Amino acid sequence: MSTEHETRAPAAPVTDWAGFDFDTRQVHAGAYPDRNSGLRVPPIALSAGYVFDSFDDQVDRFAGRELWRGGIGLTRGADPAAGVAAGVDGAAEDPLGVGEPAPIYSRQGNPTNAVAEDRLASLEGGTAAVAVSSGQAAISSALFAIAQAGDHIVSTASIYGGTRILFGRSFKRFGIEVDYVWDADDDAEWERAIRPSTKAIYTETIPNPRNDVTDLRRIAAVAARHNLPLVVDNTVGTPALIRPFEHGASIVVHSTTKFLTGHGAAVGGAIVDGGTFDWEAADRAGRSFPLVTAAPRPGLGSLLDRFGDRAYARAVREAVVNDIGPSLSPFTGFLLHQGMETLSLRMGRHVDSSLRIAAWLAEQPEVESVDYAGLPSNPLHAIAERDYAGRTGSVFGVTVRGGVDGARAFVDGLRVFSRMTGIGDTRSMIIHPLSSTHATFAPELNERLGITPGLLRLSIGLESADDLIRDLRGGLDCVGRRG
Ligand SMILES: Cc1ncc(COP(=O)(O)O)c(C=O)c1O
Repeated sequence: MSTEHETRAPAAPVTDWAGFDFDTRQVHAGAYPDRNSGLRVPPIALSAGYVFDSFDDQVDRFAGRELWRGGIGLTRGADPAAGVAAGVDGAAEDPLGVGEPAPIYSRQGNPTNAVAEDRLASLEGGTAAVAVSSGQAAISSALFAIAQAGDHIVSTASIYGGTRILFGRSFKRFGIEVDYVWDADDDAEWERAIRPSTKAIYTETIPNPRNDVTDLRRIAAVAARHNLPLVVDNTVGTPALIRPFEHGASIVVHSTTKFLTGHGAAVGGAIVDGGTFDWEAADRAGRSFPLVTAAPRPGLGSLLDRFGDRAYARAVREAVVNDIGPSLSPFTGFLLHQGMETLSLRMGRHVDSSLRIAAWLAEQPEVESVDYAGLPSNPLHAIAERDYAGRTGSVFGVTVRGGVDGARAFVDGLRVFSRMTGIGDTRSMIIHPLSSTHATFAPELNERLGITPGLLRLSIGLESADDLIRDLRGGLDCVGRRG
């Protein structure tokens, strides 16, 4: 005799992770059990293209009519009667109801990367994400979908050196001008910088090397007043520490090379659509965003009409990444979605160690100053407390006595920290910004940015904080000997 419990069909696996906790979503969101193979870990889908079922299927796909997400484990057009497993819900097409056109070629999208994209969109609280080949590609693609020759962008002044170089060289060559606001709390400075041709405001969470966090909500209010999308680089913050959409951002970009992939092995980037920016209202207010709001060709609606709150992400994928081609290798996409599974755990450790090490460094006689907003003595501590619960990442500056000679002695005295460019690795790293990331800037600019001869950037890894402190002590002993 069988009980009701015994005869009940097994529960269907979860396919929509909305409403689950962050720690659950970082493990599961974007991945679906594969009914065909039984694989639990989403595999690396190394295929440059996709087979068309028929002549008409090709026609439909190129016309953007066939809808399907292309996630691993979801079988397009599956026919159970023909012995092919159906998607998790048994639905043949568009099983997640998200209405993405079926992919044609891996330059536009790939199932492995789609796992990473959906997972990151979930963690950031956005509507869709697009993975690309580097952080620089993410920043460029995000902004190229918004601005074109003759347009203008306003950025906060303290941003990653490579982004400043990108803006000052390639963006300038392409006819997009970038101006900087030095005091993000000064509304008058924003008002002076914003022009009729301005198309975006750009900023970062936890800029490096100075850990000089900005008041995102205040910047978002400026952007909203001017119908401008606020683009935020959340590479150093990560969604484990701060989710810029909750503070008014419209678009988030990442260098996934860093904490998201997490192990220093693979260069990548991503753009996340917050889904809340009102592109039509901006259009009406005279700020046009044709890639999102205009019909791409007669007979086809605008991306906004067709994709709603994911229209911007679609513009990035269709009109920028597909044209220019900074696509992410599925191999790197795999490392990214796997890396994100442990994001909150790693960030917890990174920050716990950073808080201890920053406080310890601040007390050492060879140290002039420590730039870590998580320290109560830091002038930005109130923002750090309000927006980051005092946990402003693991990338910060330390200035040693003795200028460049002191910096050299300190760096060369370290044995556990790696002397290298990069942040957000499991391994701790150190670099001298003035002679590396900021080496091409005019001395007056570096002075204004606070990039002084004795300043070093630390990226605290996952080693034991005790071992790292011992290593730093050894480096400081060398400064002392020189001094
Ligand atoms: C804040 C930030 N954004 C973007 C980038 C560029 O990323 P990628 O090196 O992946 O191109 C970096 C690199 O250090 C970064 O620190």
